[in-house]
Amino acid sequence: MCLTIPGKIISINNQTARVSLGGETRDVFMGTVKGAKIGDWILATGNIGVRKINARDAREIISLLEDSKQINKNKIDLKLNDIFRRAWDRRLTKDDLLYLLRLQEDEDLAALYSEANVMRKTILKDFICIHGIIEFSNYCQNDCAYCGLRSANRHLKRYRMTINEITAAAGKAIQRGYKLLVLQSGEDFFYSDDALAEIVRKIKEKNRVFIFMSVGERGYECYKKLKAAGASGVLFRYETSNPRLFKKLHPRGKNLARRLEHLKFMKELGFFIATGSLIGLPGQTEKDLLNDLLTTKKYANMVSMGPFIPTADTPLAKSPHTEEIKNWKVRMNLKMIAILRLLIPEARIPVVTALETLAGEDGRKQALHAGANSLMFNLTPAKYRPLYKIYGNKFYQKENIWEKYGLFKYEESYKMLEERMAKELERNEKQN
Ligand code: 5AD
Repeated sequence: MCLTIPGKIISINNQTARVSLGGETRDVFMGTVKGAKIGDWILATGNIGVRKINARDAREIISLLEDSKQINKNKIDLKLNDIFRRAWDRRLTKDDLLYLLRLQEDEDLAALYSEANVMRKTILKDFICIHGIIEFSNYCQNDCAYCGLRSANRHLKRYRMTINEITAAAGKAIQRGYKLLVLQSGEDFFYSDDALAEIVRKIKEKNRVFIFMSVGERGYECYKKLKAAGASGVLFRYETSNPRLFKKLHPRGKNLARRLEHLKFMKELGFFIATGSLIGLPGQTEKDLLNDLLTTKKYANMVSMGPFIPTADTPLAKSPHTEEIKNWKVRMNLKMIAILRLLIPEARIPVVTALETLAGEDGRKQALHAGANSLMFNLTPAKYRPLYKIYGNKFYQKENIWEKYGLFKYEESYKMLEERMAKELERNEKQN
């Protein structure tokens, strides 16, 4: 499901309303919205009105998506302005990326975030995609040094959802309006390839929904089956683009080459790919982050990048985690979001939970203002949620405003909206 920026009705003529929306005016077809008057707030997708929304909620959504700070373009240094120009021309160089990564001054960063936000609005218009994630098993055969689900962690109570539980959780989410679901687990071969494919098939059988699988390195045959069963996307981070660091963090013969091979064949199989790395890993350098940007560009339709958070019962539990380091990670994550928006203008860039965990209440807003355009809400059944401890003190926020006004609109779900509208028109015609 997706959320659009609310607009205010300036005038109405028959079934068309002139609406002030995100700094522009637009003519919107109102046959699909009942009883709207001048001065009312509405949600629209493209030129089609979807529903009315009260003024308070409208303002809340606007404040989340629109930064009110004005950037004085004359004050931005020339080099930065040049880089922004190259970003619009899609000619960013490696040096440009490095320059952006090194920005430190608040004013420069504000300019970067603002430019990224303008790019998001210009390229992706006025909507935010909302994904729901169901974490269906916390068993994992791996021993990643950073992750609380690592198999060597004997302190974690493990759970697995049955196929029925998973499809029921998905069904419930879909009923609430979710159109994009992520099914995630540790690397858990308890579920055979066929079992995973069956889960996808069962959900797809009854619903028009986009399913992203996040189940780790399971090889080509598995992903081929998942695609055939109807899965649309994968969420699969390469974690770090530095092969030596990758090896250090992933024991048991895991290596970056195999990880990237997965991304390659996933792409060939036609999956929509969400990928990225961890920010602030011990031993990670600026050069690594630069390569992460390039690696992400190579594979990602959707970016998935978040800060590393030291986790109890892992070898990296004692990694420094001072306020200063936390702030650095938040800032670097926001910077990476903004740079990626300039580097891959069409990318879906979600605000990840780990960033919200470090940045707190304001993190979501900050990330959206820095060019992010999508959200990931946790839909794991409450009894399992606390056990999916990739890291501790995970951030949860009430999703009310989003769920209340979430609409489905993105190019993939466009057809559904069209059908809805056609039905509305049909009904209108019959009534007249
Ligand atoms: N901090 C932040 N993110 C983590 N992940 C695993 N452990 C941590 C941690 N300690 C991320 C990995 C993985 C995703 C599911 O969770 O990047 O791909």
